[in-house]
Amino acid sequence: MKLHVVTSHNVDNLLSDNVITLPPSGIREFFDIVYNTPDCISLGVGEPDFVTPWRISDAGIYAIKDGNTHYTSNKGLQELRQHIAAIISKKHNVLYDPETQILVTIGVSEGLDIALRSIINPGDEVIYFEPCYVSYSATIKLAYGKAVAIPTHCEDGFAIDINQLQKTITHKTKAIMLNYPANPTGASIDKQTLEAIASLAIHHNLIVIADEIYDEITYNGNHFSIISIPGMPERTIYLNGFSKAYAMTGWRLGYACGSESIISAMNKIHQYTALCAPSIAQYAAIEAITHGQRDVATMRSHYVKRRNFITSRLQEIGLECYPPRGAFYAFPSIAKTGLSSREFAVRLLKSHKVAVVPGTAFGSCYDNHIRCSYATSIEQLKEAMDRIADFVNTL
Ligand SMILES: Cc1ncc(COP(=O)(O)O)c(C=O)c1O
Repeated sequence: MKLHVVTSHNVDNLLSDNVITLPPSGIREFFDIVYNTPDCISLGVGEPDFVTPWRISDAGIYAIKDGNTHYTSNKGLQELRQHIAAIISKKHNVLYDPETQILVTIGVSEGLDIALRSIINPGDEVIYFEPCYVSYSATIKLAYGKAVAIPTHCEDGFAIDINQLQKTITHKTKAIMLNYPANPTGASIDKQTLEAIASLAIHHNLIVIADEIYDEITYNGNHFSIISIPGMPERTIYLNGFSKAYAMTGWRLGYACGSESIISAMNKIHQYTALCAPSIAQYAAIEAITHGQRDVATMRSHYVKRRNFITSRLQEIGLECYPPRGAFYAFPSIAKTGLSSREFAVRLLKSHKVAVVPGTAFGSCYDNHIRCSYATSIEQLKEAMDRIADFVNTL
């Protein structure tokens, strides 16, 4: 029988305009080149090089062995939600009701998507700060919102300018999105700035979406969350997850906390589109949250050494770099090379086999930056930095 080849013929003009006009992720497009380059050192991917700590994986394996392979409650396992409530009250002094104010999601990715879809009416504006995680503007647009970016700058330590935020708020603004510590800069937001954002949010009756996925990977002191500010737990959709802190990216598990009305709206979308987060991952997450703190601390101590190494080496090479306060990314300036970020990344990859991500993937203003992930071994980092030094010298 003749094999039927599937083409896009006749259906390519039936796609949603909203999807057609969405640009492809600057990261994925670039990594198609990386996968075809043997012996390449990748400083590109945004995930821990560590495998999931064994005790956590073991709990997942036991879940399978014990037959815990069914759907869970839409909201997630009650025991997991109770542990999430306990850890947040300990860290941030805020008590969420595990029955009504916590939703277990398929990574922070799903949390972001359903948070936006549950609050946006078409045309509502959502303010976020660039450079930022590649999904922000896309998820806002997919929810039929208007993505309003405010740039931040390396010379100001990527700090948020409150006056500019105030001027950007309009009667159409529905929410402000924050990510701290941040991908791709490693910058965080200090308490004073968070208080100023909180008072604007309260004054203008806005929601804050706080993506705090890197909170456990904080180097200078403790992470301070906007939910610790009075009046904010009610109007904040707090997002966190297991991907980064516990090296569990492939397990696809996160959670959202907020007021009952917002969480129940999010759960409405979640129950129709996802049903529940993966059951096996939820059992593993219970182990992570109850016994994984030492593993988190060990990984953090490795990230600190790598951060110190990469920032001082980039400085030596002459690529000015903001010292990251958290996460596992450095976002050095390549301005002195005179190359665009894409040219820099492609030429570095082709001639010296090191993959970095062009700054424009994180916002159009960042053509004089690249993102280097240091979630890779110190040996690999040393080799990568030597190759980058050699590349810069040849320019
Ligand atoms: C800032 C930020 N938010 C969310 C995510 C997605 O995380 P998850 O694996 O929990 O979906 C990432 C992944 O890189 C990220 O950097």
